[in-house]
Amino acid sequence: MSYNLLKGKRGIISGALDERSIAWRTALKCYEEGAEIVLTNAPVAMRMGEINKLAEAVKAPVIACDVSSNEDVANLFTKSMEHFGGGIDFILHSIGMSINVRKGKHYTEIDYGFNSKSLDISAVSLHRMLATAMKMDAINDWGSVVALTYIAAQRVFPDYNEMADAKALLESITRSFGYHYGVKKHVRVNTISQSPVRTTAGSGVKGFDGFMDYAEKMSPLGNATSDECANYIVMMFSDLTRKVTMQNLFHDGGFSFTGVTEAVIEKMEAPSTP
Ligand SMILES: NC(=O)c1ccc[n+]([C@@H]2O[C@H](COP(=O)([O-])OP(=O)(O)OC[C@H]3O[C@@H](n4cnc5c(N)ncnc54)[C@H](O)[C@@H]3O)[C@@H](O)[C@H]2O)c1
Repeated sequence: MSYNLLKGKRGIISGALDERSIAWRTALKCYEEGAEIVLTNAPVAMRMGEINKLAEAVKAPVIACDVSSNEDVANLFTKSMEHFGGGIDFILHSIGMSINVRKGKHYTEIDYGFNSKSLDISAVSLHRMLATAMKMDAINDWGSVVALTYIAAQRVFPDYNEMADAKALLESITRSFGYHYGVKKHVRVNTISQSPVRTTAGSGVKGFDGFMDYAEKMSPLGNATSDECANYIVMMFSDLTRKVTMQNLFHDGGFSFTGVTEAVIEKMEAPSTP
């Protein structure tokens, strides 16, 4: 069911790799709610070609952009504004990449060259997008920017590796830039801290399936799905949340504030099978 929450709004959605991507689900919802969209992803991801299916479904152009490149990010805003014939109302930053995880490096033995690339792509890229947009005056008054994060920024999840540090930095940039963009143009910037979901980025984390089951049992409402995350993002892009900014918003079925659940205790007490 559509509420037309984004009627007349125009936005950029990054990170739709395949139909499991949170960004993919979000693009569909934004379109359903009346938004006009530009899709973007890294050139290497676009070579898979999947994104063209989404582009057709949501009638959006696709603009290649490696978020670690200043030129690519500037080009993304120039082309998007040309396409829309004006400014942008919302941006989804749905980008994460850990080279050390990919290379199987343990957190205590990471390669710092890979680490700086991981932080640049997963966190500093939000700064780059916001700084470029501010310089080009690309985001309209009362615009909304959302980036996706994970609770490993606050608590230790050992196999989340250097991405925990990347998410902590992403959340900090959200607060700091949120302040400046708020004062300058009433633009709000928030992170949504999402439950685990089985996507390409998500399932790259070691022990992911066991962890997803644990999170499900530790969440009074159960894990939040990608489609539910997309709904929350739509709300954040809508005019119903104009005074929410610089926040890290948990969207995790209650996981973040649960100490333990009966389901987990029962599991711990269950007699072990020989
Ligand atoms: N899946 C989960 O369990 C989960 C939970 C909480 C938060 N998140 C976050 O949600 C976001 C989206 O991830 P997802 O789970 O949908 O996985 P995904 O793999 O579908 O999306 C990650 C995207 O990042 C893009 N990307 C990587 N390097 C890039 C670059 N240099 N330039 C531009 N784009 C680049 C990839 O192409 C991909 O589309 C990430 O920030 C992730 O950390 C995921």
